[in-house]
Amino acid sequence: MTMTAAVPGCPVDESFDPLSPEFLADPHAAFTEPDRFDLHRPDADRHLAFGQGLHYCLGANLGKLEAQIAIAELARRYPDLALVPDQEFTFHANISFRGPQVLLVRVN
Ligand code: HEM
Repeated sequence: MTMTAAVPGCPVDESFDPLSPEFLADPHAAFTEPDRFDLHRPDADRHLAFGQGLHYCLGANLGKLEAQIAIAELARRYPDLALVPDQEFTFHANISFRGPQVLLVRVN
């Protein structure tokens, strides 16, 4: 995905792609290996999923509780749930809500 962007006082190349591997490999990124799913990151609480500051998500605790219940129930119902290997992921062209368009899993 590429986009044309205009940031006052900050020239941005027209080919700027915030989801490109080069951008995600930014040495100044907040997390080491940011594209690796790691449930045990010691600094995971520094994420920005619920925003930050004045407009921090009012439903963050409810969202976390819902996720906790949903993921626990999913694991209870499908204890052998696993990704189908060798999938090619495509993503919605939206940097606010990033997620694969299709995610194939095995339940047995
Ligand atoms: C996993 C679920 C959720 C995620 C990832 C999420 C994410 C966010 C983010 C990133 C913001 C900040 C937006 C900004 O800075 O402009 C936000 C704001 C907000 N969220 Fe959530 N949210 C979730 C669930 C909820 C739920 C369940 C509620 C209400 C029941 C809720 C209510 C709000 C409200 C009212 C704001 C605006 C806060 C303000 O502007 O002061 N969110 N959310």
